[in-house]
Amino acid sequence: MADHAKVAIVTGGAQGIGEAIAVRLASERFFVIIADLTAEIGNAAATRIGAGRAAFYQCDISDVNDVRKLFEHVIGTYGHIDVVVNNAGIIRDHMIWKMTPEEFDAVIRVNLRGTWLMCREAAMLMKSQKSGAIINITSRAWLGNMGQTNYSASKAGIVGLTRSLALELGTHNVRVNAVAPGLIDTPLARALPEEVQQKLINAQPTKSMGQPEDVAEVVAFLASDRCRFMTGQVLYVDGGKSIGAGL
Ligand SMILES: NC(=O)c1ccc[n+]([C@@H]2O[C@H](COP(=O)([O-])OP(=O)(O)OC[C@H]3O[C@@H](n4cnc5c(N)ncnc54)[C@H](O)[C@@H]3O)[C@@H](O)[C@H]2O)c1
Repeated sequence: MADHAKVAIVTGGAQGIGEAIAVRLASERFFVIIADLTAEIGNAAATRIGAGRAAFYQCDISDVNDVRKLFEHVIGTYGHIDVVVNNAGIIRDHMIWKMTPEEFDAVIRVNLRGTWLMCREAAMLMKSQKSGAIINITSRAWLGNMGQTNYSASKAGIVGLTRSLALELGTHNVRVNAVAPGLIDTPLARALPEEVQQKLINAQPTKSMGQPEDVAEVVAFLASDRCRFMTGQVLYVDGGKSIGAGL
């Protein structure tokens, strides 16, 4: 890592939106730690970005000890953390009458508890550093989505977490913002049945899927000093779907 590099953690950075965010931040001279579950795909993603620009660290964000060790490792190795992007997330979709309590718990555990655990460590560190930016990846689905009562609730929780934490950290020179993607072309979206994908595409005013790079662009802006007077906000990258129903 170059001495002058800023340091960013990207959870779920091994593939999809997270990988695009890691690539984009590395191109903006961040050294990026990809925090993800699987060493094989995580190391491959870090290798694609390049030695000296990224590294992989194995971490389950829903595990309090894993998250604590991640921050200890990054601080011990690199000395500071400038940006934390909480991107890791999962889906377990069903209409509520088919959804099990286990599917509800799994999604809340990773998406909401995991993001909260990461935010807690980041907040304690960045408060003492008196600098930093936290960017939480929520979803347009927090406004409501059929078949996603668990996911929508977890992502709504992330919006509340983002806004409350922005209040707590405002005077400590730490900004906390969220990005709400619509349908984005990733392994997670491609795992949906073909007809569901097509319905979701048709529901977006642009009638298209976004690309992971579209989200990464907005994250790069929120990670930069270009938005130093912005905190507690949710930026939609959703082809306009959050506007409401079109024709
Ligand atoms: N793809 C979309 O259409 C879309 C839309 C809105 C929001 N999002 C959100 O964007 C984020 C990324 O989505 P994606 O489509 O790239 O997903 P993806 O499934 O392609 O990638 C998610 C990554 O997170 C990692 N991950 C999962 N659980 C983890 C855990 N407990 N600890 C650490 N890492 C974990 C996975 O290993 C994977 O690398 C998610 O939070 C998702 O909810 C995606």
